[in-house]
Amino acid sequence: MKNIAVVGTGYVGLVTGTCFANLGNKITCLDIDEEKIARLRQGEIPIYEPGLTELVERNVKAGRLFFTTSYEEALADAEFVFICVGTPSGVDGEADLRYVRMAAETIAKTMDHPLIVVNKSTVPVGTGDWVADIIKRSQPDPIDFSVVSCPEFLKEGSAITDFMNPDRVVLGSLDPEAADKVAQLHLPLRAPIIVTDLRTAEMIKYASNAFLATRISFINEIAAICEKLGADVQEVAAGMGYDKRIGPHFLNAGLGYGGSCFPKDVKALEHMALVHGSHPSLLRAVMEINRDARRWAVLTLRELLGGLDQRRIGLLGLAFKPNTDDLRESPAMEIAHLLQNEGAHVCGYDPVAMPGAAQINPEMRLAEDPYELAQGVDALLLCTEWDEFKNLDMVRIKSVMAQPILVDGRNIYDPTQMQALGFTYRGVGRGNNNGR
Ligand code: UDX
Repeated sequence: MKNIAVVGTGYVGLVTGTCFANLGNKITCLDIDEEKIARLRQGEIPIYEPGLTELVERNVKAGRLFFTTSYEEALADAEFVFICVGTPSGVDGEADLRYVRMAAETIAKTMDHPLIVVNKSTVPVGTGDWVADIIKRSQPDPIDFSVVSCPEFLKEGSAITDFMNPDRVVLGSLDPEAADKVAQLHLPLRAPIIVTDLRTAEMIKYASNAFLATRISFINEIAAICEKLGADVQEVAAGMGYDKRIGPHFLNAGLGYGGSCFPKDVKALEHMALVHGSHPSLLRAVMEINRDARRWAVLTLRELLGGLDQRRIGLLGLAFKPNTDDLRESPAMEIAHLLQNEGAHVCGYDPVAMPGAAQINPEMRLAEDPYELAQGVDALLLCTEWDEFKNLDMVRIKSVMAQPILVDGRNIYDPTQMQALGFTYRGVGRGNNNGR
């Protein structure tokens, strides 16, 4: 059993802390947000993540998981402190490091015994060294510490499974002994552990996310070409995926990537490249194609409806992907805004993300369920591929719509079936399968 402090109770911090507690360690999760900590102490989880509430409850009961706002309390007997604070996009696309700086300074001022500082926040290459400098500078008296980078690769919606079954654990440090101690913490996960230097570890994280975003933009570009040439991108992707060098994952064409990581990380990597005199033309293309993926939905609806002004459009799904209530950089929310700008009346339905959506876009009407959403609309646009949308009673849906227009932004429906039901159906990159 190790004693670990985790700074930041967002997705990464909360999942990391809870999972390490579940592996038998004593974890104190810290946040400067008093209200959040008060809620967590009452077992209220501020985010929607399948399985997390139960896991937090179990580990709190077992006396392995604690919540505090006090650095003194969190660091008291800690051997490790994980920094898991947010690194939002700054004005120029750069990662905003103010929370990392605050955490590093406070750790430095509070620590009274040697510590291993593990950084999990996604930070620009070189930040590990910067954190070490800040700690050294801010310590009232010198106390030994080491900085280890341990980037997270958790997907929202499956974060616990991802933590417990990682493809790999990446550790970066200039201190092999500290890296080895952090490696020990991860041994129960039985995953390959890659130990490298700080900067390389930080770059592995950016390069991985940028590569996945590139795959998505690649297949969206192929989808646009498929649409012109009469091929079906779904089958193209499936056919490509059998090639072991390519693999089947992250080749789903659609409305593009969103969420808290890909958009921010690709932008931040572009920014890092630019300020160091590199020309990140591929990253720029990836971002441009991702913007076009949203515009595709607007263009398609405008074309099918003969304009958007006063048209009633229902959005099926609002979260940036299924199994999360996260609306950050959500294609649905961006498309809602674009449609409203052209005079459309937009309503939406999402199984879990509606409270957040109401705050972001008060003009958007929200429906109780998909059938109420379909009532009287001129078109439905599927934005998020929640499982519950895959088995809707489409006859009932069609019967209540003003016009049977279905735009499938995630290609979850069978074009032939939808046409047989009488829908005017458009999927992404489905060529002559689109039923024109
Ligand atoms: C991502 C990374 O996967 C994770 O390793 C990282 O640490 C955090 O960012 P997450 O943002 O939770 O995780 O979502 P992910 O499942 O990777 O999907 C990102 C976006 O890409 C979603 O908007 C999704 O809809 C989109 N996507 C994904 C596609 O459009 N097509 C695909 O084939 C796959």
